[in-house]
Amino acid sequence: VRILIVGATGTLGRAVTRALIGRPAQHDVLAASRDSALTVDLGSPDTIATLYEQVGQLDAVICCAGAVPLGGLASFDRTDLQAAVAEKLLGQLELVRAGAPHLRDGGSFTLVSGITAYDPIRGGALLSTVNAGIDGFVRGAALDLDRGIRINSVSATVFAEVVDDYTEQFPGYPTVPVAAVAAAFVKSVEGGQTGQTYTVGY
Ligand SMILES: NC(=O)c1ccc[n+]([C@@H]2O[C@H](COP(=O)([O-])OP(=O)(O)OC[C@H]3O[C@@H](n4cnc5c(N)ncnc54)[C@H](OP(=O)(O)O)[C@@H]3O)[C@@H](O)[C@H]2O)c1
Repeated sequence: VRILIVGATGTLGRAVTRALIGRPAQHDVLAASRDSALTVDLGSPDTIATLYEQVGQLDAVICCAGAVPLGGLASFDRTDLQAAVAEKLLGQLELVRAGAPHLRDGGSFTLVSGITAYDPIRGGALLSTVNAGIDGFVRGAALDLDRGIRINSVSATVFAEVVDDYTEQFPGYPTVPVAAVAAAFVKSVEGGQTGQTYTVGY
């Protein structure tokens, strides 16, 4: 199975790559990010189009990338709001919109959202918006994708490996080993479900 992973070099992306390479199915993983041999910037639709032209036919697309700025609503102007949704939300939607024709029959998309869709943090209104938007998109897009193409999202709590970086922003939140989050991506790629959000660690 030929799988494109956007954000393959990050904490999550490395764990997902490890999990997929270790599967009996011996997946062929293509790594992409802003600073990989296969270059893509989620915030730039042109780079997504170029990436798909470069890689050819795929069986699965996984996204492990996308940042959202934190801050009180009063600190954002309208341009900031548009910029905040452009990367993780619109970038992942574009990965699906532009990528569907490049997927073989029965292929899959797996997007990344996060706990704040349901369990918000202070200064995280835009983060909650983006993560809830991704989960909503997955539910809706599952009905539209044809040729047996599936789509799911993975929504995790804070990764145990990086909890020290987030302990002030996520006070008292549960943590989860990133390998458990990676397993949800394996389930999405190899399983049969669609339109699902797999919550992990909460
Ligand atoms: N960390 C957590 O505890 C946690 C918990 C729940 C959900 N999440 C979500 O999981 C995702 C990954 O988190 P992470 O902690 O693994 O992040 P990370 O370690 O910072 O890794 C991010 C990855 O995405 C790539 N990337 C960053 N911006 C990009 C862009 N604009 N276009 C394409 N690729 C880009 C990075 O590579 P380059 O720099 O080369 O582009 C890197 O490979 C995020 O969406 C995050 O919200 C994280």
